[in-house]
Amino acid sequence: MFQVPRGTRDFTSEEMEKRRYIEKNMAATFKSFGYGEIQTPTFESLELFTAKSGESIISEIYAFTDKGGRQLALRPELTAPVIRCYVERLQMEPKPLKLFYFGNCYRYDRPQKGRYREFQQAGCEIIGADTPEAMAELLACAFTLLTNIGLKNIRMNVGNLTIVGALFSTLNLQKDDQKKLLLLIDKSQFDDLRISLRELGISDDTTEQFICILQTPDIEEIHAFIQKDEAAIKELSSMKTVLDLLANAFKITEYGIKLGIVRGLDYYKGIVFEIDAPLLGAEKQLCGGGAYELVSLFGGSDVPTAGFAIGFDRTILALEAEGFAFPPPSLDVYIIPVNQEMLPTTIEISQRLRREGLSVDFDQLRRGVGKSLKYAAAKHANTVIIVGPKELEQQSVTLRDMKTGNQEIVAITKIHSKLKNV
Ligand code: HAM
Repeated sequence: MFQVPRGTRDFTSEEMEKRRYIEKNMAATFKSFGYGEIQTPTFESLELFTAKSGESIISEIYAFTDKGGRQLALRPELTAPVIRCYVERLQMEPKPLKLFYFGNCYRYDRPQKGRYREFQQAGCEIIGADTPEAMAELLACAFTLLTNIGLKNIRMNVGNLTIVGALFSTLNLQKDDQKKLLLLIDKSQFDDLRISLRELGISDDTTEQFICILQTPDIEEIHAFIQKDEAAIKELSSMKTVLDLLANAFKITEYGIKLGIVRGLDYYKGIVFEIDAPLLGAEKQLCGGGAYELVSLFGGSDVPTAGFAIGFDRTILALEAEGFAFPPPSLDVYIIPVNQEMLPTTIEISQRLRREGLSVDFDQLRRGVGKSLKYAAAKHANTVIIVGPKELEQQSVTLRDMKTGNQEIVAITKIHSKLKNV
């Protein structure tokens, strides 16, 4: 017996129906915000991912050497690939360039509910605009994608890496130490953070103040802490403009400031954000993103970039946790030939209805009417057409409404108009 590889999943037709339903809804939302779709390869040069994050990322991804000796990796995310494509082909496009994507990602994570080795992201990148309105719209787009599919219980937290940098400066910490601390902050491991800060010679008072600022939603409190850093004050004021636009113009108010949001990936700078579904427990982060720098690292002319990605699989889990009623899979018509002589007519009707855009199936196992009706019910068929010799003499068939059980004789030429009225 073979089994799916650890951390991967099969999706049955029923599950695919849910996934496609959400995908269609999300694509419509991305398009409504002026984004166009992009697709990049499933694997890329390994260097694309180590360029910013360093060799240490290799242990977290699927890296391999192909038969031609090329160092490749299954993509762990799509931001670096999209920016690679931008630098390679799209730099001359009018700005801002707004691109969205759906794609499988691969990470050598420890699998658990909501965390897989193969998972799907729905995300976007905006290239060439960093005005407060562009950032506010990015945040609004992420939030709207999730509310448009029916999620209710979600919360956005907005952080800012420039300001966290200023906090570190007040503590006089080296870059290497900052990196270690950022990992602890990212995971909200404040006890370990306390220990590390004490080891770095930071007083208990300052440590508590620092941890407090990382968690406070109060912009004034943050302002007071970074008073001496002009760049950080400017960044805070620009972040306030973004958030005011989000609340007052985009009418999205379910957010809070949280400087403790520092994002694990190495390319971010400035505003970063995450959206959580608290109902999911440990793996509750549905979406993450922010402003970042990769274009110049990949050899392109410097241009502002920002984006986010939604974990598609977690989003489905969150919808299920909220008891969302996905539309059941359905078949428009199931056709039952009463005997084999009725087959040509059965197939002709199937083909005609299919051409008219209906989903149609017919009995291909030569079962009796009773068993075929049970099968049609199991497949959620809306209507069953029974093709029998007596009705066929009159160029008619029997139409059965599967919801009510009502049956009527209908001329073959009238089937489609009749079905439209059902
Ligand atoms: P990320 O936070 O690493 O960001 O991933 C985005 C989302 O993907 C997460 O919030 C989570 O829902 C989902 N996700 C991550 N790892 C797994 C996993 N192992 N299993 C299931 N879901 C997972 C990025 O990838 C950035 N590229 C986002 C971005 C776009 N930033 C700027 N542009």
